[in-house]
Amino acid sequence: MPASMDMQATEALPRDAQSILELAARSMFELFAHASEGMMLVDRQARVVWINDQYRRFLPALGFEREEDFVGHPVSTVVQNTQMHKVLETGKPILIDLLTNRAGTFVVSRIPLRDSVGTVIGALGIVLFDQPEANLQPLIAKFSLLQRDLDEARRELAAQRSQPKAGVRQSKYTFASFVGASPAAVEVKRQARRAAQSSSPVLLLGETGTGKELLAHAIHASSARSNGPFIGVNIAAVPDTLLEAEFFGVAPGAYTGADRKGRDGKFKLADGGTLFLDEIGDMPQGLQAKLLRALQEGEIEPLGSNRLVPFDARVIAATSRDLAALVREGKFREDLFYRLNVLPIRVAPLRERRADIPVLVEMLGEDIALRSGTAPPEVLPDALALLAGQRWRGNIRELRNVLEQTALSSDSQTIDASQLEKILRGAGLDEIAPALKQAKGPGGAELLRPLSEQVAELEQRAIAAALNATGGNKLATARLLGISRATLYGRMENPDK
Ligand SMILES: Nc1ncnc2c1ncn2[C@@H]1O[C@H](COP(=O)(O)OP(=O)(O)O)[C@@H](O)[C@H]1O
Ligand SMILES: [Mg+2]
Repeated sequence: MPASMDMQATEALPRDAQSILELAARSMFELFAHASEGMMLVDRQARVVWINDQYRRFLPALGFEREEDFVGHPVSTVVQNTQMHKVLETGKPILIDLLTNRAGTFVVSRIPLRDSVGTVIGALGIVLFDQPEANLQPLIAKFSLLQRDLDEARRELAAQRSQPKAGVRQSKYTFASFVGASPAAVEVKRQARRAAQSSSPVLLLGETGTGKELLAHAIHASSARSNGPFIGVNIAAVPDTLLEAEFFGVAPGAYTGADRKGRDGKFKLADGGTLFLDEIGDMPQGLQAKLLRALQEGEIEPLGSNRLVPFDARVIAATSRDLAALVREGKFREDLFYRLNVLPIRVAPLRERRADIPVLVEMLGEDIALRSGTAPPEVLPDALALLAGQRWRGNIRELRNVLEQTALSSDSQTIDASQLEKILRGAGLDEIAPALKQAKGPGGAELLRPLSEQVAELEQRAIAAALNATGGNKLATARLLGISRATLYGRMENPDK
């Protein structure tokens, strides 16, 4: 077909309906042929009968060097995962679909071709575009946000309808809160959805800040126990000596003082719902045996009682540590590991799903804006590229902090690469992190000095880092450090600088 569209458009339209329709059909065909990434025709037997020049580009990626090895063959033998035969069978178009095969992932359209009496005589396949991740990113980002808003609205509505019992903690997040359309994110959500259908223990494995806690909430919220409580314990945050009481509770009279009346443990509080054991790898060994027994027997023994109390809670555990290695080192009981490891879900670090960074940035930006009562920042492409290249050891939590700091340090609505660089490189991350790490590690002569001196030093470094990060803006610095402006002035060595 020659490129005669322009000429015809300047001529008068033909008068009879048949010619107009033919003209429209031809124009549409040419439009698609030019604007799409490729077109193919199959006959009634689903054999490829024609491909256009653009389509020919895909042949090597599909594994064909010569056109005659492709054209003339049944489409299902030359294009994996094709659905063209479905269109022929049903006579219904598939107007938009994702097709993944060895050549990549494509957005495709499939349309049946009919003869003058309406019989299906073949089908037209159009590759609308390739690289859907890049092309559809704005759409996917928008969709995720809308879905989240919808989800929030629904939850609020549900909460209004059925006021929960006093003290019952409802889950904060659902699967829609877990933003991301990268293969790794989709796979995690698929596994988590399946886990929600079961009542077996779930083990969430992944670095800090990857969304393990969020997923635990989401699993609970879409499980059969969603009307029950969601109770979390962060094992790393509770002193070892208090953990047993925290888990199993205290019988009345076991202690004097505040605990005289007895206190329910988390197992009891989670009755009928979900118990989330965060940082399970930090569990002291003595308690590991007790936890195992509780899980095996479905019964707990509150401190100071000699009665066993049955409980009914679904356990979700999480850890950022290499639990299998802890087992090998003898620091984590193997039998407890197997008890918890029934449905393991590995949550990928952010650097393995960089495709999610733009949509996460958008979502986090909105969230930060909501909390601070400002408009969401616009992250410019150069800044986005910089974000995409980071290592993100702290994953989404770190991404959030960096965005928050950058937004705070800037007076403008936009975030560009240079503003970001300041925060990323700023003393804030480079200096404080090693200082903290050192403080956590064993030994170190520099730590064997008066505490007041060390605290004062760290304070000054933190203030300097925050001032640096905010370009000297004192209000922003105070907010960043979580103190009032007056306190900041009081602690600055040289407030007039
Ligand atoms: N996929 C995600 N989409 C949106 N927010 C996320 C996602 N994953 C994590 N977050 C957010 O990042 C922060 C850290 O997540 P969290 O679940 O506490 O991580 P972890 O328990 O693995 O340390 C939270 O504010 C959480 O809401
Ligand atoms: Mg966590």
